[in-house]
Amino acid sequence: MAWTIASPSSRFSFGASNEIPQNSSRFPRLVPQFWPWEKVKLGPLSVSPMGFGTWAWGNQLLWGYQEAMNNELQETFNLAIDNGINLFDTADSYGTGKLNGQSERLLGKFIRDYQGPKGVRDNIIIATKFAAYPWRLTAGQFVKACQSSLKRLQIERIGVGQLHWSTANYAPLQELALWDGLVAMYEKSLVRAVGVSNYGPKQLLKISDYLKARGVPLCSAQVQFSLLSMAKDQMELKAVCDSLNICLISYSPLGLGMLTGKYTAFKLPRGPRALLFRQILPGLEPLLRSLGEIADKRGKTIPQVAINWCICKGTVPIPGVKSVRQAEENLGALGWRLSLDEMLQLESAAQESPRKMIQNIFQTR
Ligand SMILES: NC(=O)c1ccc[n+]([C@@H]2O[C@H](COP(=O)([O-])OP(=O)(O)OC[C@H]3O[C@@H](n4cnc5c(N)ncnc54)[C@H](OP(=O)(O)O)[C@@H]3O)[C@@H](O)[C@H]2O)c1
Repeated sequence: MAWTIASPSSRFSFGASNEIPQNSSRFPRLVPQFWPWEKVKLGPLSVSPMGFGTWAWGNQLLWGYQEAMNNELQETFNLAIDNGINLFDTADSYGTGKLNGQSERLLGKFIRDYQGPKGVRDNIIIATKFAAYPWRLTAGQFVKACQSSLKRLQIERIGVGQLHWSTANYAPLQELALWDGLVAMYEKSLVRAVGVSNYGPKQLLKISDYLKARGVPLCSAQVQFSLLSMAKDQMELKAVCDSLNICLISYSPLGLGMLTGKYTAFKLPRGPRALLFRQILPGLEPLLRSLGEIADKRGKTIPQVAINWCICKGTVPIPGVKSVRQAEENLGALGWRLSLDEMLQLESAAQESPRKMIQNIFQTR
């Protein structure tokens, strides 16, 4: 039996089982992507079980961005919103050269131009990240950085203000300015919640204690987390997040594209990714085979299975999307769950892969 919940677009038609009925197409469009109760708490905020990442939006060097892509990016954004995605990850450092800040700028324009219901637009949560540039040495400089992001984003408050990375490894004295910067943004109501990125379990516990003492709740920790990045450190971080009741946001859940199945050692992307892929892809056969087997058995695609694995691990993945097609496909990662056996099969295949993703140079312990 299926029923329909009246909604402005009348698109919420749920089946009786716990799985969301899927479109016959592998790339669903305008069907419910997840149950309302699958939304995830991010401190005071409630976000979709998957967000989208926007690192590519403005990055020519690594991602081949061109301004001619803007219309399609806007359509991609609208499609995501119309399908219930309300979390978008960005950073004040995204955008190369004179395009610095372009990802935030595009998001600002897309939010402003969004034609759907106002309630839906008001519910969009932007999680941006503030770079720990060496010249940002005081809390006031982080407040200024936050104000600049707000201007580019054309919004009054940022959903989650995150520290992009910790300086504990190389400039420990700067770290306190970062933490006080988060406190100041929160106290000035420029951000609704605060989070960190590239913090390891030890450093996460330290900042969590500090923010707690200052009366600022920490809501999220963002880290590279995928079937290619699931070592002891990631699992330890997940356990600490659980103990602190904060959300782990998985970045690069598709291994920068290696877990989509579209690249091989002979079919590499343009740009610097090729160097990394050339090293890792030859050993990825067992994992890609497993992903493919499960995808075929379930009528899904490889990226959908790879993203679903992150969700099943209790994290909120933020796959990067560059086109409507990618967004449509990735939306199909929602509304169903891998079985325990499938999870184990994937993890064991991942263990067999000799090379893992390189970790972010700023990642701390
Ligand atoms: N905190 C940090 O330090 C940090 C670091 C990295 C990323 N992030 C965040 O995490 C987000 C996601 O990570 P990521 O962009 O690095 O990597 P990712 O999500 O693992 O991979 C994204 C890339 O894979 C390809 N792709 C995505 N969906 C696809 C599909 N369905 N079919 C085929 N190809 C597909 C696209 O690139 P191609 O089409 O060019 O292959 C896309 O840009 C970023 O956008 C950013 O917001 C944060």
